[in-house]
Parts: sequence; C-alpha cells; structure tokens
Amino acid sequence: MRIDIITIFPEYFGPLNVSLIGKAASRGDITFAVRDLREWTHDVHRTVDDSPFGGGPGMVMKPEPWGQAIDAVAGSAETGPADTGATTPLLLIPTPAGVPFTQRHAARYSAERWLIFACGRYEGIDGRVAEDARARMRVEEVSIGDYVLAGGEPAVLVMIEAICRLLPGVLGNAESAADDSFGFGDGLTGDRMAGLVEGPSYTRPRVWRDRDVPPVLLSGDHAAITRWRRDSALRRTAQNRPDLVERLLVGELDKHDLAVLAEAGFPVSGEDVAD
Ligand code: 6GU
Repeated sequence: MRIDIITIFPEYFGPLNVSLIGKAASRGDITFAVRDLREWTHDVHRTVDDSPFGGGPGMVMKPEPWGQAIDAVAGSAETGPADTGATTPLLLIPTPAGVPFTQRHAARYSAERWLIFACGRYEGIDGRVAEDARARMRVEEVSIGDYVLAGGEPAVLVMIEAICRLLPGVLGNAESAADDSFGFGDGLTGDRMAGLVEGPSYTRPRVWRDRDVPPVLLSGDHAAITRWRRDSALRRTAQNRPDLVERLLVGELDKHDLAVLAEAGFPVSGEDVAD
C-alpha cells in the first residue's frame, strides 16, 4: 500500500518509522511519502492561510497550494519506487466535521492500494478544494471523534495505525485482529465478539499482590473460557459502552448473554432473544 500525506508539519510523522508500522515500511509493504504543503506556495512568506470570507475567527487554508499539491501527488502514480500499480488514489480529508471513522472504515481503507491524506489546520481547507478533487478522484471527509484537534495530523496518525495493522503481515499474530473490540461479525473478524468491547486479559504471575487470575482461565476448559470471555466482554460493554448494548439487542443474543446483561443493569425483553 502507498500512503501520501500532505501537511505543513512533516516532522509530525516521525512515529511512522516506529514499531510494527515502521517495520512494515522498512520491508516495503507500506510506502509512506510525507510532503510539505509549502512546496506548493510561491510567495516569499510561503503563505498557506488567509482570513475567512464572511468574517469570523481563525484562518482558512488557501485553495491554490492545496489544489497544486493534490494534483502533483495524485498525478505521480507512475513515478519512482513508490508506484504500486494503483492509478487513482482515495483522498482522505481529516476534519472534525467529517463522517466518524470506525473499524469498518479502517477495514475498507486497508483494502485500497493508494491513500492520500490532506491535513488541514486552522479552520479547515477552502471548501472548493474537496469539491474540485471530487471531479477526479474519490474523496472522503473523516473525523476521529467528537472533540476538536488543532489539526488533522494526530488524526491521520491514528487512522494510519488502525488501517495498517490490518494489512497482511503487519500484526505479529494474524488472529489478534480477529477478536478485536468492534469486530463486525462478518467472518473476517471474531464473530462471537461482534459489537462488543473486549474484557480484561491476564498473564503470569498467577497471583500478584494477593490477586488471583480468574481460575477458569487456568482450567484448560476451552468452552468455559470462551463463555467467560464473552461474559466479561458483555459486562465491560454494559459498563463502558451502553450505546453499543443498545445496538446488540437487535442482534444475536442467547439466554446466557441476556442474564449477564440483566445483571449488569440491562434487562432485555424476550423478543430480543435468539435461540
Ligand atoms: Cl480528523 N481533525 C481535527 N482537526 N479535529 C478532529 C478530528 C480531525 N477528528 C476529531 N477532531
């Protein structure tokens, strides 16, 4: 996969050289190209922003550098070792006004061959830039949550981590993505845990500060362990993510699930029970 990032803070992306993603990049499984937006400014001050038409606080990023940057980066398909054979990139624009980025987006983007991230700062990028790019390529505006960051850069690091850990060979253990919190029950992810966050995990020592590991995990009874893990996922989801429990009720819940949820304060009607 090829990932281009256009930003006024290229140094923000140092972390891409670290850990599993850094290793995947050294192997050549992912090619990152971080480009400074100011390469496409032509005045002595290398200006990228201006005050908003219509008034209001803050600054808006000017369209001309962005238009040229996107044209140059998107038009570079055939150049250099970064070429992966993909000719049309997917342009992703991080903005708190975008569609909420979820595990589904991460999975969909991980199947792309070429992503371009356009990092806005200030009050965002002139609205005509996305509109103009849409005439030539797919464009999606995405947000990583309901809070406001000063710029898209940290959001892009977050999305890249979520996307790239799904690429074949990036995670040490191919199965560790399957049981992730938020699996979708699509057969590619851990069906049994679809829509739940995971419960806690434990490792050695068996007793630590007088606290035992839950005995069932030492029992060797795999069915009991699977059931216990599901119960603990249900309890933690009920505690921390009542919004996810609401969505579960229309899905697959057995009688034991319902008993666990009822105990966690989510009494559920009989109609929601799957046999
Ligand atoms: Cl993608 N960008 C900015 N600036 N703030 C955000 C965000 C993105 N997602 C949530 N807050």
